[in-house]
Amino acid sequence: MNEDTTQHMLQQAKQWVYEAGDLIKEMMERPYEINTKKDRKDLVTEVDKATEQFLLDRIRNVYPHHQVMGEEGVGEKVESLDGTVWIIDPIDGTMNFVHQGRFFAISVGIYVDGVGEIGLIYDVMNDDLYEARRGGGAYKNGKALNRLDQTKAIDDALVGLNNVWATPNRRLKEEAIHDLVRHVKGTRSYGSAALEFAFIAEGIIDAYVTMRLAPWDVAAGMILVDEVGGKTSRVDGEPLDLLRENTVLCANQAIHDDVLRYIVPK
Ligand code: IPD
Ligand code: CA
Ligand code: CA
Ligand code: CA
Repeated sequence: MNEDTTQHMLQQAKQWVYEAGDLIKEMMERPYEINTKKDRKDLVTEVDKATEQFLLDRIRNVYPHHQVMGEEGVGEKVESLDGTVWIIDPIDGTMNFVHQGRFFAISVGIYVDGVGEIGLIYDVMNDDLYEARRGGGAYKNGKALNRLDQTKAIDDALVGLNNVWATPNRRLKEEAIHDLVRHVKGTRSYGSAALEFAFIAEGIIDAYVTMRLAPWDVAAGMILVDEVGGKTSRVDGEPLDLLRENTVLCANQAIHDDVLRYIVPK
């Protein structure tokens, strides 16, 4: 894709994401339907679905030949990354959305033949838009993000973890995680994978480890983090497959392999 096309698509996607944010805020003003998916902790609301539909309609209208993969399944089932694919999480952090009314984000990644070209993560209630274009750097609200500090050491790192680490895990050695937690400077848990990626890009946390994320949780964040000197892999060090769920370690490149040594699977 040439630079003008990418630039144009980025501007358009940004406008749609801002509009989708307005839709969410508007819908939050009145009661909305909340349902569960696979269990009582897996929430979905009519706002998630309406936001995905809103984005799908706009994309379809202007780019009828692009594929759209979204968490709530309003687009088609995407089985190949050939061509241009929009990978969308309409609300990342639905639990936060429902319980707290904040700390959630809209995440949009645009891939061309499997290569990440554009990443947008919008923290709706803080009105913070993170954006990246492959080779064009990463920005927060239009201001360029610095490249990550490559002298960062693991004992000075803040690491994003989630509740998987507090419960027995069939895939990881608990002692290894205890060791990691002892070694790093602190841990954080934000409840939105997309925001954890954005915070790594911003340099306010240094790594994020989790055992299962879907493509829409990571698609935009990977592009953002890549642009500032971060690295995303599975916990076995291999690249992610954006057509299925993956384990994920995203980190400042300076500490990626050090963290990896702690979390090698059982
Ligand atoms: C979830 C959030 C959460 C992560 C879960 C995701 P959702 O996404 O990103 O932080 O721990 O694994 O499924 O369902 O709120 O879009
Ligand atoms: Ca969900
Ligand atoms: Ca998500
Ligand atoms: Ca979601």
